[in-house]
Amino acid sequence: MQFPVSPARAVRGSVRLPGDKSISHRYAMLAAVAEGTSKLENYSTGADCQSTLGCVQALGITIEKQDGAVLVHGKGLDGFQEPVGLLDAGNSGSTIRMLSGMLAAQRFESGIGGDESLSRRPMERIITPLTAMGATIGAREGRFPPLSIRGGKLQAIRYEPPMASAQVKTCVLFAGLHTEGVTSIVEKTPTRDHTEVALREFGAEVEAEDGVIFIKGRPALQARALRVPGDLSSAAFFLAAATMLPGSDLTLEGVGLSPSRTALLDWLASHGARIQITEVKQSAGELTGNLRVRASNFEGGRIEAATTAALIDEIPVLAVLGAVSRNGLVVRDAAELRVKETDRIATVAENLRRMGVEVESSEDAIAVPGQQRLRAAKLDSFGDHRIAMAFAVAALASDGECVIEGAEAASVSFPEFYDTLRLVREA
Ligand code: S3P
Repeated sequence: MQFPVSPARAVRGSVRLPGDKSISHRYAMLAAVAEGTSKLENYSTGADCQSTLGCVQALGITIEKQDGAVLVHGKGLDGFQEPVGLLDAGNSGSTIRMLSGMLAAQRFESGIGGDESLSRRPMERIITPLTAMGATIGAREGRFPPLSIRGGKLQAIRYEPPMASAQVKTCVLFAGLHTEGVTSIVEKTPTRDHTEVALREFGAEVEAEDGVIFIKGRPALQARALRVPGDLSSAAFFLAAATMLPGSDLTLEGVGLSPSRTALLDWLASHGARIQITEVKQSAGELTGNLRVRASNFEGGRIEAATTAALIDEIPVLAVLGAVSRNGLVVRDAAELRVKETDRIATVAENLRRMGVEVESSEDAIAVPGQQRLRAAKLDSFGDHRIAMAFAVAALASDGECVIEGAEAASVSFPEFYDTLRLVREA
């Protein structure tokens, strides 16, 4: 789909964002292995989280949709049934990596794969720890999906992932649920902690101390009624748009504010963004609040080391913001961007160049000088949801109408994105 986006003067008003993608995946998977019926409200409408529901259904778990909520009829830790055919994770790295932790503990063999983009994403990162725990995993060329997972009785391990990845951490913790011992993960660089928070909510014993997370195996998980906070990574597109467009004053309601994700807000605010947080509440271990963001003279700055890991999904839109900021943006230690839904260093640089923006990139870094003009151009999502949305935001600040090829990719995490944009944009 080619989608035209014309420049806007401002984004204004108040919107409520759909449920967080990361939290939705975790709630659905944990509800599937808990005893009883969980009710998940504000579950992400994105295709990725629907892929997770499809997979757990194929594993014999009944899912119902009722008044906008998702009901998951969990069958306990040993409740999965052998699926017929390959499990389809679609575009979702979270689905394949996290669910594989559970599949590795089943008595049956299962296969899990997805679309073309997912089929190019690295899986050694989960194959290594799951093999150490006792599973046998086959993969295309030894490292790409589809995976064939021959499960069995797993043993607890202590594991230090070589990269900062919440998906890998979650995979190992989910496998650890099924062992008789205590599984531990050593995190040199902290990553989002939604798994630890959700596991506790469902009744697991999880401790975190000095960068090590411990889970005790074989807990009796109990069904829960939970509301998924609004997605802060989806909010990022609107935070950037409102910061850039001069007349903006926008409120985003009910956004998830997990301290493991809010490095984004801290970084923006400490470089000149005007963001006010109000109505902070806590529910099921997760914080939510309203974000009011107004236009500002954004400075830009550097993102590196642990900060890169903490706001890895937001870098595409921050690169756009960097181009119109006072001092530009430098992102370092970002090799992980190369193995996301697309090679995001390449797809960000390509779209910025199409807009006439100067940009430099290397294997693990990207630098965008500031005070540049964004020229109208034909842009491309390259099939990546966050690239589609980042460059729709760029188009708002450009000097003419842009067209986004493959704009429909946004529906992977945020199907309501273009409607929401229409609601708040002022020409
Ligand atoms: C996610 C972790 C991150 C992130 C992805 C969601 C999660 O991936 O990019 O969008 O929900 O745990 P990595 O674990 O590969 O860094």
